Amino acid sequence: MSKEINSNDLMSLCKRRGFIWPSFELYGGVAGMFDYGPLGSSMRNNILEVWRDIYKGREGFIEIDSETVNPREVFKASGHVDEFSDLITYCTKCGSAFRADHLVKEFFENPDVLSPKELDDAFVKFDIKCPECGGKLGPVEEFNLMFKTNIGPGSSRVGYLRPETAQGIFVNYLNLYRYNREKLPLGVIQTGRGYRNEIAPRQGMIRMREFNMMEVELFVDPEDKGWIRFPEIENELISLVPNTGNETVMMTVGEAVEKRIIANKVLAYFVYTTQQFLTRLGIDPERLRFRQHLCNEMAHYAKDCWDAEVLLSYGWIEITGIADRGAWDLSRHAEFSGTELTHFKKFDEPREMDVEKIKAKHKALGPRFKDKAKAIAEIMETKQSSDVKDGKLELNLDGEDIVLDGEFFEVVRVREKVSGERVVPHVIEPSHGLDRIFYSVLEHSFSRDEKEDYTTLRLMPEVAPIKVGIFPLMEKDGLDELAMDIYRKVHSPCLEAYYDGSGTIGKRYARMDEIGTPWCITVDYESLSGPDKGTVTIRNRDTSEQKRIQIDSVPEILKNLLSGKPFRDL
Ligand code: ATP
Ligand code: GLY
Repeated sequence: MSKEINSNDLMSLCKRRGFIWPSFELYGGVAGMFDYGPLGSSMRNNILEVWRDIYKGREGFIEIDSETVNPREVFKASGHVDEFSDLITYCTKCGSAFRADHLVKEFFENPDVLSPKELDDAFVKFDIKCPECGGKLGPVEEFNLMFKTNIGPGSSRVGYLRPETAQGIFVNYLNLYRYNREKLPLGVIQTGRGYRNEIAPRQGMIRMREFNMMEVELFVDPEDKGWIRFPEIENELISLVPNTGNETVMMTVGEAVEKRIIANKVLAYFVYTTQQFLTRLGIDPERLRFRQHLCNEMAHYAKDCWDAEVLLSYGWIEITGIADRGAWDLSRHAEFSGTELTHFKKFDEPREMDVEKIKAKHKALGPRFKDKAKAIAEIMETKQSSDVKDGKLELNLDGEDIVLDGEFFEVVRVREKVSGERVVPHVIEPSHGLDRIFYSVLEHSFSRDEKEDYTTLRLMPEVAPIKVGIFPLMEKDGLDELAMDIYRKVHSPCLEAYYDGSGTIGKRYARMDEIGTPWCITVDYESLSGPDKGTVTIRNRDTSEQKRIQIDSVPEILKNLLSGKPFRDL
């Protein structure tokens, strides 16, 4: 069997068997866009359920579903309007567009950290021409990757398709915080589409323009980046490529934190959780590593970032990014929306502290606001100094907006016993790309015997789209009815079965092996009469081992196999 995979072979299997179809093929297709077929949809849902099982089930995080079209304000605050771009160059002769850093890949270790000027210079130095027509390449410039649209008719309100689901969580912080009874840590997950107008999508499902994300935003106390379950995993091994060199080092999670290779326990815990998640899906641990971003490679919001990279036929490819986003998102949304997005952190004991308070100037308020002055003063004194913007304080009295300048209040420092303080939570984010994970699982499960011309997808049972094939030996003599009866009893959306009565049994096994079905059940003449009446054979995909089992126990046996019972113990 060979581990060497030609991505074209796999993509053609995916297309032929209904995992993945290039979108709009009827109209010639659009680069970077794919549709999931029936098997692909089932397998994608299975991956999602494993992700939910870990984050919603084990960790107890909550799930939301927010809008995919967002007003411009959201992405102005998040930094995407100004920062979310790749560097583009157009051929001056044929007009083709290219990602500039991809054209100099063979000359630089990390071409995506080069500036436009450095790329222009590299084109000259290494005599790089248009890969399509050999023409001269034009100047390198920034290209924002967001799809722009209008919300409503005309151009009244500019919007963007979200490039990440994360912002939908950040803009809902106050709702989520209240839902979580104003406690940290607060873990929120969201899955859905992300959109990026990639300059030159190649490499199949690796670079899509519309793709699926599974994102986790964990809000934590900035001074407490520990994690209660850390001791459970601190002795587990992970394969790391720190940004201090290019070496892969294998060490325990505990050691990585102790040596300050991973900055804190919570980040390290979720790097390891990502490893658990990916290997549970069938990613080969030997072809998985975590690479730390170089300082100048980091996204605009990140303080630290580790990419889970897998070795594919395309080389090492990022499939998940685990970032410490610090206070970036909440601080920016607070600043741009004018709303405080904080956590009230209670001290164990009240502390004496200098605090800034708003003090009403009653002498000025009285003459100006008459009988409303007292109520205004009371509201003013509930405000914080951070509510003063450009020297002005805004408040609302019985529906009336009132703006006060420094004539009516002052900010004073007083020493007080305080029970807690407001802090901006930090965010730890494991951001998983569902499509890249889907494709990587397929590649790592793909096994091809060229001599026998036989393909097996060794998919993990919980990921496999079809869990069991059910065959009558012949489609006659009541074998077909019994097989169909078993199929009807077993088949459900959580345990998809497939009835197949055509062709030789060998061909039917081959069809199931090719799509990764872990077990096949065959109804034969012994099932109908003789000492084995009431039994069927069950076959294990990976060993071809077969056993006879009672028909009545088929649903129970499949359930046990799916929850991990070894086939040999049946
Ligand atoms: P790359 O450097 O490969 O463009 P990225 O660093 O921009 O990736 P992130 O912004 O960290 O990727 O996005 C989080 C995850 O979303 C990635 O790990 C990846 O799995 C997925 N992803 C990002 N862009 C795409 C895309 N164009 N097509 C498919 N998946 C994507
Ligand atoms: N939310 C992480 C990213 O899109 O990069």
